[in-house]
Formats: sequence, C-alpha cells, structure tokens
Amino acid sequence: MARVVLDPAQHPDAVLGDFSTANPLVTFKKEEVAFIYGTKWKQRYFTKRGDDYFVFPAQWDVQAKTWRRYYVEPGTDWWAEHYPADQMQRPTGPLCDGCHSVNYDIKTKQVTEWNVGCEKCHGAGSLHVQNPVASTIVNPAKLQGDRADDVCLQCHTQGQPRTKPLEGVYYDWPVGYQPGDRLSDVWILEEHHLGKETFTHWPDGHAHKNRMQGNDYVQSQMSLKGVRCYGCHDVHGTPNEADLRLPGNAVCLQCHDPQRQPGPPGTLEQHTQHAANSEGSKCIACHMPLIARTVGTVNVRSHTFKFISPSTTLRDGVPNPCTSCHKDRTPQWASDALKKWPGVSAWRVGG
Ligand code: HEC
Ligand code: HEC
Ligand code: HEC
Ligand code: HEC
Ligand code: HEC
Ligand code: HEC
Ligand code: HEC
Repeated sequence: MARVVLDPAQHPDAVLGDFSTANPLVTFKKEEVAFIYGTKWKQRYFTKRGDDYFVFPAQWDVQAKTWRRYYVEPGTDWWAEHYPADQMQRPTGPLCDGCHSVNYDIKTKQVTEWNVGCEKCHGAGSLHVQNPVASTIVNPAKLQGDRADDVCLQCHTQGQPRTKPLEGVYYDWPVGYQPGDRLSDVWILEEHHLGKETFTHWPDGHAHKNRMQGNDYVQSQMSLKGVRCYGCHDVHGTPNEADLRLPGNAVCLQCHDPQRQPGPPGTLEQHTQHAANSEGSKCIACHMPLIARTVGTVNVRSHTFKFISPSTTLRDGVPNPCTSCHKDRTPQWASDALKKWPGVSAWRVGG
C-alpha cells in the first residue's frame, strides 16, 4: 500500500499542491506544513501546534489538479457536532491518525510509524522478531469468519466507536482494536436508511463516500461465501492498479467462468453484450462503478459487486454503470436495452 503521510522536508517532490500561484483558499505557506497527506486522490496539509497536528482548510484535488476547500460541515461526518467549528481546533489524533499510522498511543500521542505498517495488520511483532515462527504473529489469512477482513475494515469503513466519548474525546477510529479481535466489539458501521440519500449512503445502501469498501463488501455474496479482501488484493504490493493480484478481468476469472459454480454462464460477449475487447466488457465497468465520492467529482469504486440497474436510477437516483459510461444516454434507454439481453432477469433488473 502506498505511503500517504510524508514529511515534505524529506520528500519535497511529493508536494503536489500548487503553492506558487496565489489562491484565496490557501491561507497557509508551504513552510508551515509538517506533513503532507495523500498522493492518489487528494492531498491534505498538516501543521503541528503543541503536541497535536491540525489539517489546513484547503486540499489539493490530485486528478483535477485544483485546490478545494477542506472543511467537515455539521451534518456530514458524525463527529463534526462534537468539535469546535474552527478547523484549526480539530486535532488529527482522534480524527485521523489511528488509521494513518501504527500504534497511535492516545495518552502520549506518539506513533511507532506513520502509514500502514506491518504491525497494523499482523499485530505486535517484537515476540516474532525474537522467535520467528507462525505462532508468534497474526496471519490474517488464518483468522476465522469476520476476523480476517476485520483487519482491513478497521480502516476501510465509515463507522463509529461503541464507546463515545472515550475519556472525554470523540475518536473516529476503533481505539484498542488489535488484529485477531472482533472489530464489531468496539466499532459499528454507519447506518443506512432504505430510500434515503445520506452523507454516507445512496438510497439503496451503496456507499456514497470513500473509505467504505468494508461497508459495501460485507453485503456481498462473495463476502458471505468466504472470499476475502486479499482474494483480490495483495497489500504487500503488486504492479497492478490498486494492488490487485492480477490485472483487469483476470482477477475475477480466478474464480468466475461458465464452468464454475459462481458463473456467469456463457461467453464473455453473451454476458456483457459488448465486444470482448470493449471497455463495456470489463467486469469492473458494470460491477464496480465509481460512485463513492472522495473529493470534488472524483469517486472510488463500489464494492458490493451488485449490478445497479437503470431502473434503480429511475426510482431512487442511484447512478447506474450503463449511463455513467454512455453519458449521452438516459437511464430509460439503458433499461430498454437491457430488456433485449438474454441472460438478464426482468424481475431483478427490469423496469
Ligand atoms: C494492510 C495489511 C497488511 C500489512 C500492512 C502487511 N501485511 Fe502481511 N499479510 C496481510 C494479509 C491479509 C496476509 C494474508 C494474505 C496474503 O498472503 O496476502 C498477509 C500475509 C503475510 C505473510 C505470509 C504469511 C504466510 O504464512 O503465508 C508474510 C510473511 C507477511 N504478510 C509479512 C508482512 C510484512 C513483513 C509486512 C510489513 C513490511 C506486512 N506483511 C504488512 C496483511 C498485511
Ligand atoms: C491502518 C489503516 C489501514 C489498514 C489496516 C488497511 N488499509 Fe488499505 N489503505 C489505507 C490507506 C490510508 C490507503 C490509501 C493509500 C494511498 O493513498 O495510496 C489504503 C489503500 C488501499 C488500497 C488502494 C491502493 C491503491 O494503490 O490504490 C487497497 C487495495 C487497500 N488499501 C486494501 C486493503 C486491504 C485488503 C487491507 C486488509 C488486508 C487493508 N487495505 C488494510 C489504510 C489501511
Ligand atoms: C477509519 C479510518 C480512517 C480515518 C479516521 C481517516 N482516514 Fe483517511 N483514509 C482511510 C482509508 C482507508 C483511505 C483510503 C481508502 C479510500 O479513500 O477509499 C483514506 C484516504 C485518505 C486520503 C487520500 C489519500 C490519497 O492518496 O489520495 C487522505 C488525504 C486522507 N485519508 C486524510 C485523512 C484525514 C485528514 C483524516 C482526518 C480528518 C482521515 N484521513 C481520517 C482511512 C481513514
Ligand atoms: C476468490 C474467488 C473469487 C474472486 C477472485 C471473485 N469472485 Fe465473484 N464470486 C465468488 C463466489 C464464491 C461468489 C458467490 C457465488 C454464489 O454464491 O453462488 C461470487 C459472486 C459474485 C457475484 C454475484 C453475487 C453478488 O454478490 O451479487 C458477482 C457479481 C461477482 N462475484 C463479481 C466478481 C467480480 C467483478 C470479480 C473481480 C473483480 C470477482 N467476482 C472475483 C468468488 C470470487
Ligand atoms: C456490461 C455490463 C456487465 C459487465 C461488463 C459484466 N457484467 Fe456481470 N452482470 C451484468 C448484469 C446486468 C447482471 C445481472 C443479471 C441479473 O440479475 O439478471 C450481471 C450479473 C453477474 C453475476 C451474477 C449472476 C450470474 O449470471 O451468475 C455474476 C457472477 C457476474 N455478473 C460476473 C461478472 C464477471 C466476472 C464479469 C467480467 C468477466 C462481468 N460480470 C461483467 C452486467 C455486466
Ligand atoms: C472480488 C475482488 C475484490 C474484493 C474481494 C475486494 N476488492 Fe477492492 N478492488 C477490486 C478492484 C477490481 C478494484 C479496482 C481496480 C481498478 O480501478 O482498476 C478495487 C479497488 C480498491 C481500492 C482502491 C479504491 C478504488 O476504488 O480505486 C481499495 C481501497 C480497495 N479496493 C479496498 C478493498 C477492501 C478493503 C476490500 C475488502 C473489504 C476489498 N477491496 C475487496 C477488487 C476487489
Ligand atoms: C465502461 C464503459 C461502458 C459501460 C459501463 C457500458 N457500455 Fe455499452 N458500450 C460501450 C462502448 C465503448 C460501446 C461501443 C461498442 C463496443 O465497444 O462494444 C458500447 C456499445 C453499447 C451499445 C450499442 C451501441 C449503442 O450505443 O446503441 C449498447 C446498446 C450498449 N452499449 C448498452 C449498454 C448497457 C445497457 C450498459 C449497462 C448494462 C452498458 N452499455 C455499459 C461502453 C460501455
């Protein structure tokens, strides 16, 4: 997994924001930045005051290459109402650092390492260094049931601690969780209300916000059947997009083909109704649309793997994959087109 938190003195090239042209949003100087935060979707800027860090009120949209305001409004993230309105009085310790470092200590406010290090997923490692055998370290792949993916869900979910406040402080991360534990003992997922569009959810329950891969994935049949996050991703790093084990459709075809129980039946063209080499024949194009907002108009991929039907768009306004790609067409057009597709059920998909 890429490094997110970096010291600009040591990594001057990693500063992506344009500090050379004046911008009314940018009320701070590059020299005041203690850490830069993020490289792929958005970059935020931390400054140190006393023994806490705070996030400056402007962020860089990496893909659109533009500054955007950074401010968590009341009525969005659950914790906003428990903090002062002033951005510079919202410390990163309770609000961010538990997920962007290893062993953040809530008493000393120290970390053993910034970013996602080995111990965050494998548990404490000092015994393992003394005695490097399997029993002295947690291997997430050997954990039972939920506990395996809980290792990822500790960071890849929008949720709230069961105990809040904790010693007077509102934390936005699962304080005390260790790999191997049951995450749900300390953490609950953000609720979804069917039919309502909220900050975190689309009306049908799909994630509307980034960092919800876990909220999405626990709803899928794959999660139910024991496919884990690491069935598709190798977090120790691969040459593929998003650390996938295999590129493109190959990662899905590890388990899906017409000869095997998970299907889908027939050839690729029969299933997708697009030419095999078309953009419209990529599994992720229809099963993982970009609908979870991270910054500006930049979205990350849905992880329920469900096909969101155009009839759901017509009814509830959830974006569907067909017209996200066919931008000049309407959901009604897509719905009509699907009526002619042989493998598609009118009951599940029809409108
Ligand atoms: C983001 C979570 C995460 C981080 C960080 C991480 N690992 Fe892992 N590691 C896993 C998962 C999940 C597995 C099991 C699935 C797999 O092999 O990919 C695993 C498996 C392993 C295995 C294989 C164990 C076996 O018996 O097959 C080794 C060795 C390992 N990790 C070492 C490391 C080291 C060393 C680091 C730090 C440089 C590290 N890991 C960082 C999640 C992580
Ligand atoms: C300590 C918190 C933490 C844990 C635990 C964690 N992640 Fe992440 N993960 C992050 C952050 C932060 C990023 C963003 C990295 C970036 O900006 O490149 C990320 C990014 C990713 C990405 C995208 C990488 C890319 O280049 O696009 C994948 C895939 C991913 N994580 C999967 C996993 C899986 C699978 C697990 C469990 C085995 C896991 N993560 C555990 C915090 C975490
Ligand atoms: C519960 C864990 C958690 C908390 C709390 C959290 N993050 Fe993250 N953050 C993640 C994960 C996981 C990702 C990557 C996955 C995604 O964005 O969908 C991420 C992504 C990011 C990115 C984008 C990185 C990139 O390369 O574009 C930035 C910037 C960021 N977080 C900053 C913050 C700040 C600032 C806070 C506090 C206000 C915060 N995060 C709180 C887990 C967390
Ligand atoms: C490690 C094996 C594995 C991998 C890899 C895998 N799948 Fe699956 N998939 C399954 C299993 C098992 C089921 C459940 C089948 C059942 O219940 O009959 C399933 C079910 C599904 C379903 C239908 C059920 C639902 O949840 O709505 C879709 C859609 C799907 N997978 C898409 C994908 C896509 C897209 C990829 C690649 C990004 C992928 N799968 C990768 C094993 C896998
Ligand atoms: C052009 C859009 C599109 C693409 C691309 C696509 N699918 Fe689908 N897929 C659908 C639709 C629509 C359904 C729903 C059918 C239904 O519910 O009747 C579906 C259903 C499924 C199902 C569950 C039902 C079944 O037929 O078994 C699986 C599994 C699945 N797709 C896997 C995949 C895999 C794997 C890929 C890539 C090789 C892929 N899909 C590519 C549109 C697509
Ligand atoms: C069935 C395969 C599969 C499973 C299981 C899976 N992912 Fe993914 N994930 C993907 C694919 C495919 C992509 C998109 C790669 C691309 O954009 O080309 C992706 C992208 C991501 C990203 C990058 C954000 C983005 O949208 O580009 C993160 C973070 C991530 N996954 C985390 C997770 C976590 C955490 C879990 C478990 C809760 C998980 N994934 C389970 C297939 C999977
Ligand atoms: C990622 C992009 C992408 C997605 C998602 C996608 N398509 Fe397409 N579609 C294409 C492209 C590109 C073509 C042009 C011909 C080709 O490459 O197969 C096309 C062609 C078509 C055509 C024939 C030409 C036309 O415009 O009448 C129809 C019908 C169609 N798509 C319907 C759908 C439906 C329905 C869905 C959703 C289930 C869908 N497409 C999803 C990219 C996409």
